[in-house]
Amino acid sequence: MKTETGKQSDWALYRRLLDYVALHGGAFLLSILGFLIYSVANVLLADLTQFLLDSLGEASQISMGFVSNAAHWFWPPGDMGPVEYARIAVPVAAVVLAVIRASGYFFGNYFMNIVARGVVHRLRTQVFDALIRVSRQFIDGHTHGELVSKLTFNVEQVSGASSEALKTILRDGLTVLALISYMLYLNWKLTLVFFAITPAIAGVVVAVGRHFRRYSRRIQDSMGEVTQLSNESMRAFDELRMFSATEQQSERFRAASQFNRVQSLKLAFVQAVSTPIAQVLLALALGALFWFALEPAILASFSAGSLVAFIAAATQLSKPIRTLTNVQSIIQRGLAAAEDLFAQIDAEPEPDHGQLSLERAHGAIALDQLSFTYPGAEQRVLTDISLQIPAGKMVAFVGRSGAGKTSLMHLLCRFYAPSAGSITLDDQPIADFKLDDYRRQFGLVSQRVVLFSDTVRANLAFGQRDSVTDKALSEALETAQAASFIDAMPDGLDAMLGDGGSGLSGGQKQRLAIARAILKDAPVLILDEATSALDNESEAAIQASLEGVSAGRTTLVIAHRLSTVERADMIVVMDEGRIVATGTHTELMAEGGLYANLYQQGFAAS
Ligand SMILES: Nc1ncnc2c1ncn2[C@@H]1O[C@H](COP(=O)(O)OP(=O)(O)O)[C@@H](O)[C@H]1O
Ligand SMILES: [Mg+2]
Repeated sequence: MKTETGKQSDWALYRRLLDYVALHGGAFLLSILGFLIYSVANVLLADLTQFLLDSLGEASQISMGFVSNAAHWFWPPGDMGPVEYARIAVPVAAVVLAVIRASGYFFGNYFMNIVARGVVHRLRTQVFDALIRVSRQFIDGHTHGELVSKLTFNVEQVSGASSEALKTILRDGLTVLALISYMLYLNWKLTLVFFAITPAIAGVVVAVGRHFRRYSRRIQDSMGEVTQLSNESMRAFDELRMFSATEQQSERFRAASQFNRVQSLKLAFVQAVSTPIAQVLLALALGALFWFALEPAILASFSAGSLVAFIAAATQLSKPIRTLTNVQSIIQRGLAAAEDLFAQIDAEPEPDHGQLSLERAHGAIALDQLSFTYPGAEQRVLTDISLQIPAGKMVAFVGRSGAGKTSLMHLLCRFYAPSAGSITLDDQPIADFKLDDYRRQFGLVSQRVVLFSDTVRANLAFGQRDSVTDKALSEALETAQAASFIDAMPDGLDAMLGDGGSGLSGGQKQRLAIARAILKDAPVLILDEATSALDNESEAAIQASLEGVSAGRTTLVIAHRLSTVERADMIVVMDEGRIVATGTHTELMAEGGLYANLYQQGFAAS
């Protein structure tokens, strides 16, 4: 699949993630503090066994450990015997330590969640913002499912890594550190035995990490495919049934899901195998430890209590080391996802180098020797297009399907930059305008109407900065011949439209889209086959009202009906990416070329 990341070095990746964490520095420090308290309390609980055991021995014992010393300092035993004293002090210390450990655990976990959710929220919004600003070219090169699953799946992977994994690393990492320090303190020579296995465990962790990352990337990509197939299938409900393609689609989905399963299993395998290996290595170290510990010279340097405490600490190491090796897979998934998300955040937004502000254009458009090839495509779709469109005129574009009419409108909307030649608006190259200002000059009803799952009112006022009055809404609906069916809806303007305007007919959607464009009140109006789904009667009615709307603005219509074409001030006939004729209906008919041909066919196939 297509995600080509992995260029960022791991180090840069960690640094960048750390920047996100740093935004919640306070909570992060509190969390570290919490886990620090937790791990020290853990050690002290091991130390408590020394207090207990040494109290049973001779009163003249040299040291009875930290807890014992602290207890003696707080509450001097006076003339109590050691056992009598321990009987009260040990249980009290055990409860106090447990309470301290519990509060450390709470602080550590809770504040780490504040950090993690904050990181995820920020990442998610940044990726979303980047995604809605990418160039049209980028969108062309990716499926929707791929992009959507970045926001859903990938972001959650980072969330897993930043909450669960970070917590584990801190909690168990600090515990391991504390336990080892304690062991070093009790008997450093013996502890060195332990360090002998460290390189082996580290080796396992690193080797396994690489596998994890590779499988995680594949799982991620396959989630994109799974999402895409699901989206597509939900949209193609009717087609799937009528083409008897449900079986075929099921098969495609099964294959995508199967790939995901296999990769997930590989990941699970590596994970399931790595932890036991680390455990066996640890057991080897423990075995060596016991062997040396019982060596007479070393044995003599321990009190009974400190020997047991040492062994208690060493055995306690096993659990945190297991969780630490286990959490690797979550971390690697998070890193693979973060790589991909960062690449998305860094993706070039739509180019916008224009400096000129523009309040309201007159609407004179000039095309000069314009040529265009879609990025990455071979075939040129527009060749040598030159055309003057005076402000306020209505120009109709006709031509067979695939002639390049829509592509020309794409260039006008600055979705793509022309490969050669120039476009000017009011005698100014269009790339000189600020993109936002420029696009505000255009009302667009595109070939493929997109409505939002929101109220009719919100759909009409879409993108409007100022609040729109009901009167303006009604007028626009009236002009677009949409008033009657909206009024017929139970909630009228407040009726909710389904997903993508489902529940409306194609013609109704078009009329809403026209009303939306009218409401925008832009100096240039582009109608790309905007009435193709309408019957003759509503089309004629819209044509009549468009007359009023197009007064005072430049109107470009890609037309497929004679009624529109006849009203135009100029007709542009296009074929295979070129302008083959311009003129009025009468002139072009007299010429008898492609136009007359199309006319005979009733323009139906435009
Ligand atoms: N995003 C795209 N990438 C590559 N080629 C495209 C893209 N969109 C359209 N085309 C090609 O451009 C040509 C003109 O299409 P279009 O402008 O939609 O024609 P019309 O609107 O006149 O029917 C067609 O051959 C089409 O295959
Ligand atoms: Mg088209």
